Formats: sequence, C-alpha cells, structure tokens
Amino acid sequence: GQVGAQVAAAAAAAEGQQVPPEGQPGQTAGAQEAEEDLPEWACAYCGIHDPACVARCAATGKWFCNARCGTLPASCLVYHLVRSKNKEVVLHRESPLGETALECYITGSRNVFSLGFVPVTHEDGQNTVVLISRDPEVLASGRKDFDWDMDQWQPIVQNKAFLSWLVKVPSDHDVVRARHLSAAQINRLEELWKREPSATLEDLERPDVNVEPDPVQTRYEDSVQYMQVLDPLVGLEAEHDREAKESQQRSDVTVTWDVSLNRRNVAHFYYPQEDHELRLMAGAELRLRLPGSGGGGVHTDGKKGKKGAKGRPGKDKSGEWSAIGRVVKISPESNEVSLELRGRDAPTSITLGYAVEQVWKAVSFDRMRTALKLFANDETSVSGYIYHTLLGHDVEAPAINALPPAHISAPGLPELNHSQAEAVRTVLSRPFSLIQGPPGTGKTVTSATVVYHMSKLNQGQVLVCAPSNVAVDQLTEKVAQTGLKVVRLVAKSREDMVSSVEHLTLHYQVANLGTRKELSKLMQLKAETGELSEKDEKRYRAQLRAAEREVLQAADVICATCVGSGDPRLTNFRFRHVLIDESTQATEPECLISLVSGAKQAVMVGDHCQLGPVIVCKAAARAGLTQSLFERCILMGIRPIRLEVQYRMHPALSEFPSNTFYEGSLQNGVGELERVRDDVDFPWPAQDCPLMFYSQMGQEEISSSGTSYLNRMEATTVERIVTTFLRAGVHPSQLGVITPYEGQRAYVVATLLRSGALRQALYEEVEVASVDAFQGREKDYIVLSCVRSNEHNGVGFLSDPRRLNVALTRAKYGTVVLGNPKLLSTSPLWHALISHCRDRQTLVEGSLSSLRQCMVPLAPPRQFTFRHRLGGAQRDARRGRENRSSDHDDPDYRRGFASLPRNSRANGGMGTAPPPPAINPYDYFPRAPSNPYALGPAGPGVFGGYGSSLFTQPTDGAHPHVT
Ligand SMILES: Nc1ncnc2c1ncn2[C@@H]1O[C@H](COP(=O)(O)OP(=O)(O)O)[C@@H](O)[C@H]1O
Ligand SMILES: [Mg+2]
Ligand SMILES: [Zn+2]
Repeated sequence: GQVGAQVAAAAAAAEGQQVPPEGQPGQTAGAQEAEEDLPEWACAYCGIHDPACVARCAATGKWFCNARCGTLPASCLVYHLVRSKNKEVVLHRESPLGETALECYITGSRNVFSLGFVPVTHEDGQNTVVLISRDPEVLASGRKDFDWDMDQWQPIVQNKAFLSWLVKVPSDHDVVRARHLSAAQINRLEELWKREPSATLEDLERPDVNVEPDPVQTRYEDSVQYMQVLDPLVGLEAEHDREAKESQQRSDVTVTWDVSLNRRNVAHFYYPQEDHELRLMAGAELRLRLPGSGGGGVHTDGKKGKKGAKGRPGKDKSGEWSAIGRVVKISPESNEVSLELRGRDAPTSITLGYAVEQVWKAVSFDRMRTALKLFANDETSVSGYIYHTLLGHDVEAPAINALPPAHISAPGLPELNHSQAEAVRTVLSRPFSLIQGPPGTGKTVTSATVVYHMSKLNQGQVLVCAPSNVAVDQLTEKVAQTGLKVVRLVAKSREDMVSSVEHLTLHYQVANLGTRKELSKLMQLKAETGELSEKDEKRYRAQLRAAEREVLQAADVICATCVGSGDPRLTNFRFRHVLIDESTQATEPECLISLVSGAKQAVMVGDHCQLGPVIVCKAAARAGLTQSLFERCILMGIRPIRLEVQYRMHPALSEFPSNTFYEGSLQNGVGELERVRDDVDFPWPAQDCPLMFYSQMGQEEISSSGTSYLNRMEATTVERIVTTFLRAGVHPSQLGVITPYEGQRAYVVATLLRSGALRQALYEEVEVASVDAFQGREKDYIVLSCVRSNEHNGVGFLSDPRRLNVALTRAKYGTVVLGNPKLLSTSPLWHALISHCRDRQTLVEGSLSSLRQCMVPLAPPRQFTFRHRLGGAQRDARRGRENRSSDHDDPDYRRGFASLPRNSRANGGMGTAPPPPAINPYDYFPRAPSNPYALGPAGPGVFGGYGSSLFTQPTDGAHPHVT
C-alpha cells in the first residue's frame, strides 16, 4: 500500500501537467556524447538519459525512455516490454516518484499493461490517484471497500507510451539528438538479447547474427534444392516453438492432490494465464516437478535417469521428482488447472514448491524433416508425376485407367449438385488435383465422396488427412457414413480425449477386438495397477503392436492429421491415393508428410481465401513458410476445380463475401426462408438483411499480455447482444462470439460470466474464440467484436482480407459486427463492408432497444492497394533468383521423365478445368508486408506480433494448430 500511496501523492503533484515543460536544462542525451559517457540508465535503444524520462525493465534490468524515437510505433520502454514479453517497470531513483515499482494498490500486481489509475479524494479533501489492476474482481473490491469511482479507471499505458506523469516524455530537443535505430535494428537487437543479454549495437554487425534464411520459391530445380530451402525454415520454426514453450515455466506452485476415476493422481493448481499466444488448453501436456526433492524423503518408483520418460514419474540425475501429465480441466475464470499424471507415483503428501513447465515435443517437426528427406532421396516416396509436379516441372499426366463410376453420389452423403459431381469425376481421372471452394460449398462432402470412389475403384488403402484434429474428425465421420471401413489414427497422447468419432479410432477398435484374449487381460491389468512387470510390459507392447497392425491392415481408409500420417505405426504402409482436406491451413512440409508414403494420386482440398497455417517464427514466416503447398500450386499455374454453391449462410450473409472475396461467383444453395428464424426476436434494422454493423465508440486498450488488445465498451455490448439472443430462445451452443484479439476474448469471457443478466451456465456454453479457431466451423448467430478503436494506431491485422472472410462466413442466420466505423473505414476492405451495410440501412448506433441509422462520416474511400504483395514468385524475382527457365529442359530428369513431352498448361493441358477467374483472387490476399509495422495487413497483436491468433492446441506434437 505504501508504494501506491507514494505514487498517488506524486501523481497528484504532477496532475495537470500532462505535457512536460520544454527544454529543461541539464541532463540531455545527444548523439555527440560518446557511448561510454552515457550513464547506466541511458535508454538502451536511443541513449536518452534524463532520469525523469526513463524506467528500468525489472526483468532485463535495462533502461528505456518514454519517447517514440524515429519510426518506432511505441515509446522505447513500451516497445521493449512488448518485444521481450516483460511487464514490470521500476522508476528511476531521481525521478519525481523515486525508485518505485509500479504496482496495483490492492493486489500488488505489477503488470503495467493491466495497471490503470483512478482519481481519489481523501478524507482531508486532497485529490490523488491510485494504481489499480484492470481485473473485474479488483475493480469491484475497490468500488466496495474504498468507495472509489471505478468508472474513471484509465490505463497507464496509452497510445503505446506511459502516461507522462509517471514517466516523463523527453523533450523534442532530446529526441532529435538521440540515437535513431530502425525498427528492424531494434528487433534484431531484442532477438540477440534473448541469447546474449549483454549484447550491444556493435554485435549486430557480427556475421553470425541473424542471417535471414533463403525464401521459398514457386518452382525448384530439384528436390535437393527444395529441401535446402524448406528444411532450415522448419528448423527455425521448431527452435522458436521450443523457446516459446520453455519460457512458460512457473515455479513455487502449490498443488492439491486428488485421485481420478481411473485411479490416477490428479494435481490441481493455480496457473494464471495471460492472453498469450501459448494459452493452455485442455489436452495439453505439462511437466510437474518438485525441485530439490532429490535430497530424499520423497518416495519414487526408483527408475533412475529417465526424466519423465514415457510419462512415467521418476527421478532424473539429480534425483528430482518429475512427471508428465495431461490437462483434463482448466477453468477460464479461476485459472485452476487439473493435471492428470501418467504414472501412479507422486509425492502426494507435499503441496508446496512445485514447478510447472510445458512439454515441448520435436515430433511434428522431425516428421516434416523426414518427409523432406524421403521426398529428396527415396524414388518410391511419390510417383514421378507428382514429384515433378510438386517441383513445378511441366510433365504429361499419366492416364488413369479406372473407369468413372456411373453413379457419383456416395451412399450416406447428400446428393451432389452438378459442380460437385463434376469435381468428383475430374478428380478421379487425374493424378493430382486441387479442389477450391468458399465456405460451406461442400468441400468436405465432396472429399468424402471422392474417397469413397477412390477406395472402390482402386486396390490399396486410401489415406485421408487434414492439418487439424477437428477437420480430420469431420471428414472421418463423413467417410464412415458411406459404409467404408475407416480407422481414425490418433496420437498416443490424445487417446483419452473425447472425440466425436471415438468408435472409429484405432485405440478403440484395438481395445474392442475381442479376438486377442491375452491383450485384453494385460490391458485390464495395466488399467487396474498402473504398471506392469517388465516381462508383462514387453508382452503387452508386442501384442498391442500386432493388434494395431491387424486393425490398420483391415481398413479401407485411414484418417489422421498430416503430422499423424507420419506416425511410426504407419511406417510400413503404402498409400497410393491420398486426400488432404483444409490443405491451405497446413505448411508445405506438413502436407508432404502425407504424400511421401507412395502417393500416385493426390487431391488437395482447401480455400486460399481463408486463413493459412500459423507460423510463430517471424523469420520463417517472412521467408514464406506460411505459404501452403496448395497456394504454391496455384502460383505455378495449376487450376483448382472450384465449388461455388454454398449451403450454410442466409443469402444476405453470403453476398458481401461473394462479391469481395470470390468475384461474385458464390451462389446460394439455401434460400432466405430456410435461413430465417421467425421465433427469434432480434432488432435487426432491416427485415431482409441479418447482417448489421453496430457502431461502437469505446477506446481500445492494450491487454495484460502487452501483445494484444481489448475494448471494454464492446465487451459490454457483446454481453447485451448475447443476452438478447439467449432471451429470444437461441441455444447458447448455437451462438458464437468471434474476436481477433486474445485480450478481448479473455475479457469478453469474464464480462459474460460477471455481468450477464441470465444464468451463468448459459454464458459458459457460448463459445468465444478467435477467427482462427472458428475456421471450418459454423454457428446460427455470430457476434464479431473488432476491438480496434484509436486515433493513430490503425486497424492492425483486421485488414487481412482472409481473416475478415472467415469471420463473416461462420453464421447461418445472422451476424452482428461491433466496431468503430470511423477507424475501420480507413481500411479499404472495411470501408467496403461498412458501405455495404450503410446501403442496406444496417449501419446503426444507439441502444439495442432503439437502434438508429449511424451517420458518422466514413474515411474517404481508397482502392485496394496491396496488389503486389504476392507469395513466393514475386519474392524470388525481387531477390533475383529466377530458377525457372532451366527447369523444363534439364536433361537430367529423374524417375523416367526425361523424354516426356512438355505439357502446355496454358492451352488447358490439365484437362477440363473451369475457365480462370476474371480477377486473380490473389490480388486481394496479400502476404504480410515487409515492414510489419506499416499500416495494413500486419500480423495480429499490438506490434504485428502474433498475440491473439495462436493457441496452443493439443495436437499430436508441438506444432500449434487451430482445431
Ligand atoms: N449437394 C449438397 N446438398 C445438400 N447439402 C449439402 C450439399 N453439399 C454440402 N451440403 C451441406 O452443406 C454444409 C457444408 O458442407 P461441407 O462439406 O462441410 O462444406 P465445406 O467443407 O466446403 O465447408 C453441410 O451441412 C453439408 O451437409
Ligand atoms: Mg470442410
Ligand atoms: Zn529511448
């Protein structure tokens, strides 16, 4: 409390002088000053060292000033905190407030991104301010216990700088004379500090520091060159992923112990989470350790030197106890995690002093690299035709001798429409095809039909994949409906997670074989006792392997995620026919895993106008790892077969996406009448248009992670709209709230639970998630909270057309968009959407019970200006590495293709592909600009980071995926 009071007093003293007096004499920074003359507290970026203008990052110990230098989008101090993911700040001893750590008056929490202040009048009539965390709980207690006016709460970081009464803004004079680093230099410096905390600017010149990887290309000379480009990118991504996971360690965790129904130890503990890209989800794996337990006294099973091997608890070399477990429950409200441990043995009498860390697994990255190697070195990994096609060489397609089926629609699936049936016929007659279609056009239904015929027409098993588990399950279900024998291969670590296709999974089928008596007995024994004797364990494993092989061999179709198709249990299987759904969400090496078990007929399904794969490493993303194989195929000139009739949305909902993202080609397979719910009373401003833009003028704020945003006023409106829908009888599971920012997601969840007028259980069932998490899914009604609302900071990653496309195409019956039309209309894309709503009289403002037309002037319209930011081809050209010319004439074709005539795709050599679209859809789908801080389609998060869109998913490996 004392520090808070100090801050309060000093702040009061400084009140009213938001603008610092100019040109104070004395301490000024200057470029003239030699580096070594600068005091310890000089800003590590720019050198400014007025004690009142700088503060220390508590974690790195480095000092930064509160000025925006050069082109930096934030003050040096805020920029550093965001880049280094730190949040605590200490003021300078000689600053007006003295050496003070900024903290919450009530809780002592020191996260500056969630700290704000409220003015307070003391008994003696004196006006001061106090620092308080933006936490509904804390704000409530301030209101109740102290009678403070919490409606006046304002963040202490505004416009990406600290308020000047806390850390003074250096004078223009100082700023002009300070050292000016470019954002790129600063980013490289921050990267270097992670490895070498004492590195300086000079170190940036070292040749070993931050070499940019080679970018991806559209075509490749051969598979060796291909591997040389992609393998390092996978390596970078793996390294980044590992660092991010390992930085998530928590210590001094207090555990309460419990036993689950299957008699495993369950540890419950508090695991506060920020709105971080690595947000923990049920199913994730964590390692629980008891540091210092090596000294004896802790009972262990005595298995030495196997730290967490196979998830069994044991002592590592130091004798410390540790065990791996799976998160079975996580409460979004209380942040309590329940972790079910794999082994039986745990120090359950001890509650204090545990450490928790995320388990990083290399397996998905290893499989990608193995796939690249196989592709390069093993001539049987894919057919010659597919090999050359993937590298971008023109080759004649071999004939497929299977006769097309007379009846196209498959049993158990909807009767296909004309274009879907045509797609199936075409795909079956070709060795390699792409199917592209806007949301809801039956890509998955068509895929299942293709798989059905592939299996019936050919010998051998069909491999069916998608990048995410959710997408695989959806497809598995549809393929199974056709009556084929399907096995869904699930990663071992996910076996006991709930799945909609449980009965089709390999582990379920093995457990219910009925023919292997010994295996059943051993399984039962293992379940009861937890551990088998060494001899039994051996027998159990051998039996299990044999049973798994038996089930897999009997299947017509095997379904797995792309990474899962590299499972060792499939090592000896060959798959001539492969289909990959949602392939535009997979990285290229990921897709390759599914292809290199002998593919000679491959179908890739997807939509490059929706979101692509998630890449955490910026350098790898810049080099093009975000480009899917599907996209590269399109850049190479392979024409996708297109599906154009959608069965999801009310026609008024599909109109804007159709015109904006699909050149107006999207047709409706459902009529208005099928997509109107007369029973739901909602104040739509126009009868025939359930798409409304509801103007919101509340300000955005940086969220507690420092890398994301929230908007409190929009959160309140979300609650009102959700409540209205619930009252009108919409089932909570059919309502979705989409927000692109993780900070807002967390805040909306808290707001719904705290302020919702109806039963809490109802709000718990309303799904609140990022755009990325909603991809591939649908709800009856969607509320979209845009969050961004500011004077200078721009629209951020909302301006990515793919993100808007996905967000606007999730609802079947109605979509409500909440946002600031004035700001959003500065983006041409959003301008188009807002004008669309204005034309239909659905751009509204006011209270929900009396909506009126919103007359706010929009920004002047601009053209789409990001035409030239294309994928690999352009990048290649920029870098002057055109390799294409020699590809076709290379006499050294491998795999017997040397003498094949060149196939002219320009003349429609690929067969009966539909005519090319009038406008290249790529025109609207930019890559991230080279300067991620520029206005425009930057990455998510405050600084083009990836704060909001990534979630740690319980995938087979460590690769984050949106499920
Ligand atoms: N030919 C069709 N007739 C009727 N309904 C269809 C047809 N094709 C698809 N659907 C339905 O449309 C919805 C979306 O299909 P889905 O295959 O999931 O689309 P996508 O994978 O392209 O998003 C599903 O409910 C599906 O049953
Ligand atoms: Mg689908
Ligand atoms: Zn500075």
